Amino acid sequence: MSVHTPEDVRKVTTHRLSEMKCRNEKISMLTSYDYTMASIVDQAGVDVILVGDSASNVMAGNVTTLPITLDQMIYHGKSVVRAVQRALVVIDMPFGTYQTSDVEAVQNAIKVMKITHADALKLEGGVEIIDAVKKILAAGIPIMGHLGLMPQSINKYGTYTVRAKEEDEAEKLMSDALLLEKVGCFALVLEKIPASLAQKVAEKLTIPVIGIGAGGHVDGQVLVLHDMLGMSKGFSPRFLRRYADLNGIMTEAVQHYVSDVKRQDFPNEEEQY
Ligand code: KIV
Repeated sequence: MSVHTPEDVRKVTTHRLSEMKCRNEKISMLTSYDYTMASIVDQAGVDVILVGDSASNVMAGNVTTLPITLDQMIYHGKSVVRAVQRALVVIDMPFGTYQTSDVEAVQNAIKVMKITHADALKLEGGVEIIDAVKKILAAGIPIMGHLGLMPQSINKYGTYTVRAKEEDEAEKLMSDALLLEKVGCFALVLEKIPASLAQKVAEKLTIPVIGIGAGGHVDGQVLVLHDMLGMSKGFSPRFLRRYADLNGIMTEAVQHYVSDVKRQDFPNEEEQY
């Protein structure tokens, strides 16, 4: 197995991501929600850490991303930022914090940036949220867009199936992507759409396009950390590659500990005062 160690240990910026797209260097992005995992992910050399609202599923056990609150995202964001030295840290604005009014959106965005010291925010949606996007950008906050499957809209879709397979939805996605670039977003996430459409978007846009379930012809890839480490069970979409079986490793370690305690093997003479 060959591993990548970043030669450039300087902090990753939005500008450096755009340089990476120009020289066709692929961008690696993973989620993190807490200090310990974020320090491992950062030191392993990932370029962008996303404090995703998938924390709602992964950390809190909710079925969707909708219940997570702004204050909960701030808590996760602060923990991650404390751990990170190199990666660009992006925090998801949670459902309901930027759709009601652009004034409320910018107030919430400023709150997240002020308290967490993150580098950027991510918002789901295109033309429907463009006034909020413009207002937040005008406040000097970098924004990563998110199109395709947008989990905050799951109740509207009613299914987690591949998006934009039909021409009208694909056309809207392309026009939303161009709009987000035009107003000044620094990057765009495309989730669960046909690889051919994602490739077209990545070729058309000058900002980096980062895919999840969007094929290999984009500028970077993102996965949910707990999924790619094999910690979560029962979630196996086609796009997910598992790089470890931490669920198995952790279960075995805990079982070993329980059995050591039961048979009075732990602690031994050297493990006490
Ligand atoms: O919340 C999240 O983890 C995300 C990724 C799936 C892109 O938005």
